[in-house]
Amino acid sequence: MLGRVKRMLLVGTLLGFLFVLAAVVSGTDEVGPTGPPPLLLVSFDGFRADYLKRFPMPNLKSLYSQGVLVEQMTNVFVTKTFPNHYSLVTGLYAESHGIMASNMYDPDTNKHFHISNNTDPSWWNEAEPLWITALDSGYKTAAMMWPGSDVLIHNRTATHYFSYNPHMTFRERVGNVTKWMKGDGKEEGVKFAALYWEQPDITGHRYGPENTTMMSQGLKEVDDDIGLLISELKMAGLWGQINVIITSDHGMTQCSPDRLIQLDKCLGPDNYTLVDLTPVAALIPKQNTTAVFNLLKNCHSHMTAYLKESIPERLHYRNNHRVQPIILVADEGWTIVQTGNVLHRLGDHGYDNSLPSMHPFLAAVGPSFRQGYRIGSIETVDIYPLMCHLLSVNGRPNNGTLSHTRCMMAGEKCWDVPLVVGLVVGVLLLLSSVTVLFRFLGRRRPQSIRDFQRLNIDDDDDDPLLE
Ligand SMILES: *[C@@H]1O[C@H](CO)[C@@H](O)[C@H](O)[C@H]1NC(C)=O
Ligand SMILES: *[C@@H]1O[C@H](CO)[C@@H](O)[C@H](O)[C@H]1NC(C)=O
Ligand SMILES: *[C@@H]1O[C@H](CO)[C@@H](O)[C@H](O)[C@H]1NC(C)=O
Ligand SMILES: *[C@@H]1O[C@H](CO)[C@@H](O)[C@H](O)[C@H]1NC(C)=O
Ligand SMILES: *[C@@H]1O[C@H](CO)[C@@H](O)[C@H](O)[C@H]1NC(C)=O
Ligand SMILES: [Zn+2]
Repeated sequence: MLGRVKRMLLVGTLLGFLFVLAAVVSGTDEVGPTGPPPLLLVSFDGFRADYLKRFPMPNLKSLYSQGVLVEQMTNVFVTKTFPNHYSLVTGLYAESHGIMASNMYDPDTNKHFHISNNTDPSWWNEAEPLWITALDSGYKTAAMMWPGSDVLIHNRTATHYFSYNPHMTFRERVGNVTKWMKGDGKEEGVKFAALYWEQPDITGHRYGPENTTMMSQGLKEVDDDIGLLISELKMAGLWGQINVIITSDHGMTQCSPDRLIQLDKCLGPDNYTLVDLTPVAALIPKQNTTAVFNLLKNCHSHMTAYLKESIPERLHYRNNHRVQPIILVADEGWTIVQTGNVLHRLGDHGYDNSLPSMHPFLAAVGPSFRQGYRIGSIETVDIYPLMCHLLSVNGRPNNGTLSHTRCMMAGEKCWDVPLVVGLVVGVLLLLSSVTVLFRFLGRRRPQSIRDFQRLNIDDDDDDPLLE
């Protein structure tokens, strides 16, 4: 009896000691002499979440095994490159940051936006990216070809930036970003950098995500680039000193020439002005909006037509004057064309953001992140408040929630919900099987033992054998 008490005391002391140790270790927080660690945000365009399960990616896996993996992320509608990259650095849905699509028309300014002609500030000024806001904290920042990098947003740019140039290699982009983050001895390095890379989006569009041969080549390149990024950061002495987030804007789905939706079969091209086409079309009717809408609403069983006012709330794609009077949303894998039967891309994205194929992933590593931690899902808009918190920057109003990512951070005392639920369920199961076992044994045991039990368990009066 005494031995058992001693053992319990010992275990209790040990647990207490471990708890204190954990608190001390996790309490060594991010504030050093020069403030929080710098943060590097990297986007690999079009990295669909389940590529992680389908392809080896050894460098990426080694990165998140030392940090955090978010298996999939719900991005914003429309699931296109520019809207989602702006959501990553503003924490806003498209309707609130104003970058609604790859092609836009603004009826107030009468201007047209295309991703290759995007530097007019009026498109971007409805929001402010982190590389601008962080300047107000006295930080230097950098934007390497991230959408909006070279735009004068609220009259400013990041301290360092490069305009988009598809010919600049990943090595050159990383080389410049590393140089900026390192500083030059006299000058402090940048505190926040955003780095953009086009792959695996290009491969996904060209061959379709289901072409395993071509996708594994594309993703091998991406993984080699992640290896290059890690070794460049190590050479610069930044690895382990800075926080790194690797993520993406959207996924990709397979398209087919057998899944074309031809608008001309429902409505002549003279009856509307086309602002954007697929997989989310934006139309301005020339005459009667209702008449045009009625022709489109039953046009195809794999396409849904919405009047602007009736776009579902969950898409957060209504409250902006850049949303056109009618939008058409194709079902997953379907392509909208005006006429003809030519399919230009075997893979595409832009579809409903509730589709798993449209979701990207997130991996993070660095002094502020937990090690070997995994969560199922967060939202793209949640990354902005996380980054502001990591940098101690006063973020602008946004649609993200810090508590969704809190457990990713070292030093946060977090109950692991699945673990706790698992433990509770396990203990309950164990207790009930022990109870059942005892009752069962009670029925089998000789009279003398049952008499002994009756003395001990006298409230067990629902057992007829004991009566
Ligand atoms: C780019 O857009 C501006 C207006 O936003 C327009 O005036 C200009 O002609 C466009 N340039 C090209 C090359 O399309
Ligand atoms: C920075 O980019 C320029 C232009 O592409 C390139 O010539 C240079 O080598 C890059 N710098 C580093 C350190 O990689
Ligand atoms: C993948 O793409 C390559 C190159 O276009 C092509 O030769 C091959 O047949 C495709 N494979 C599948 C399964 O579609
Ligand atoms: C389509 O355009 C034609 C020619 O302008 C017009 O007569 C017709 O009413 C239009 N239809 C709709 C549904 O707007
Ligand atoms: C998103 O955030 C903006 C800025 O705070 C706000 O105006 C907007 O109402 C929010 N949207 C939703 C759906 O909460
Ligand atoms: Zn993209």
